[in-house]
Amino acid sequence: MGKAGFGLAVSCAVVSCTIAAILVGRRVKSRRKWNRVVGVLRELEEGCSTSIGRLRQVVDAMAVEMHAGLASEGGSKLKMLLTFVDNLPNGNEKGTYYALDLGGTNFRVLRVQLGGKNSLILGHEVERQPIPEHLMTSTSEDLFDFIASTLEKFVEKEGNGYIVPLDRRRELGFTFSFPVKQTSVSSGILIKWTKGFSIEDMVGKDVAECLQQAISRRGLDMRVVALVNDTVGTLALGHYHDEDTVAAVIIGTGTNACYVERTDAIIKSQGLLTKSGGMVVNMEWGNFWSTHLPRTSYDTDLDADSPNPNDQGFEKMISGMYLGDIVRRVMLRMAEESDIFGDATCRLSEPFILRTPLMAAIHEDESPDLREVSRILQETLELTNVPLKVRKVIVRVCDIVTRRAARLAAAGIVGILKKIGRDGSGGVMSVRTKTGEPSSRMRRTVVAIEGGLYASYSMFREYLSEAVAEILGEEVAPYVVLKILEDGSGIGAALLAASHSSSSVGSVTLL
Ligand code: BGC
Repeated sequence: MGKAGFGLAVSCAVVSCTIAAILVGRRVKSRRKWNRVVGVLRELEEGCSTSIGRLRQVVDAMAVEMHAGLASEGGSKLKMLLTFVDNLPNGNEKGTYYALDLGGTNFRVLRVQLGGKNSLILGHEVERQPIPEHLMTSTSEDLFDFIASTLEKFVEKEGNGYIVPLDRRRELGFTFSFPVKQTSVSSGILIKWTKGFSIEDMVGKDVAECLQQAISRRGLDMRVVALVNDTVGTLALGHYHDEDTVAAVIIGTGTNACYVERTDAIIKSQGLLTKSGGMVVNMEWGNFWSTHLPRTSYDTDLDADSPNPNDQGFEKMISGMYLGDIVRRVMLRMAEESDIFGDATCRLSEPFILRTPLMAAIHEDESPDLREVSRILQETLELTNVPLKVRKVIVRVCDIVTRRAARLAAAGIVGILKKIGRDGSGGVMSVRTKTGEPSSRMRRTVVAIEGGLYASYSMFREYLSEAVAEILGEEVAPYVVLKILEDGSGIGAALLAASHSSSSVGSVTLL
């Protein structure tokens, strides 16, 4: 090889080495970035851990807080509100009743036809409408005028099957799914707003009266005879179909639970007497808090950015209003730590851009190439060409966030069972059957569950029932039934309107 040839060879080698070094450098850099993404994921996994030990601590904390909330006003973050519902519909209710269900993203009006003993619910009609967003932060008059006008149009469509006796006004059960201090079964004062609603002039006002006034302004002949929380409506319907129903849970835009309590356990209202000796208590468990809850920096930030910081802590980890936004926050952090989404990450900074139903769709995408995930990332977040391995990470994030939510809700449910002695901690009784064979028995306990998140997110349901069974153990779990209800909160309000109607006779079941 001549001198020139040697020089060329050396230059080629130098160039190749440089290119190789650049490539290796890039690969190292990209591996480092990927490792950071994996690090964020691992940290999330650890932060959201809901080991059985931790769940048991949450169960105990829930039961303890329930006691504290019943002992004194303000004794706990759990408000444990009296509902004045001391009896539940039993099937004797007869006639046509209306219900109005306000509390989430949708607002519903219902007409329910009750057939009396043995015929039960003959039929019901429902009309759903999204609440125009501006009304959620407007004035009480605007909101209730909108509701009353929707109700008026609905009443106009009353068919022949739905004739209300001429000598009676139409009666309505109003499901209002926010914390209300009830003053009777048909009246109550709004304590505070949740779930993104914020109509300042309504706080402290009687909610049923606001609706009644709006109904009168429209000249509609209708009376509000029951004001109920959605949990209470759900319990009423659950109990109507199955007398072993002792508690109801809502997992939708927000979350909450109610249950049947003995009046002598409601220490804060000493002297409270009911014919039945029991009363439904609206726990407002969305505001539950315990140091045992697995809280991450995403939860802290979400809370700080919310219109109600330090409020509704349990709800912010569980309900449909927030889960999608927790996932968005994790994705944003991943984007900031690396370039997994390229440069186009600005939409990820928009709060609530990733709604929970989309998050559920991402989570439940079963296609091998995660096509649905790609579509949602592109259409909602404007993230294009996201590689499969990144899409898989996003699915995993959804899984972690949902699993935590469902397992915490499960711990909440077992907490209630513990408080009322239905968690089997007293042991499963040994009894002798007619044939003299020993057998074990515990009272069957039914928990009615309703809410868009629970109803339409099968992974959530699976995780929840799995966790309830895990906490209770295999001996007790078969005695606890989780029953999903549809439109329970609305139909239940109509049932309660019927059992509290001026014309109701003997339409009660003692609790
Ligand atoms: C409200 C509860 C309601 C729950 C479910 C919460 O934000 O405070 O009253 O039952 O959402 O709708």
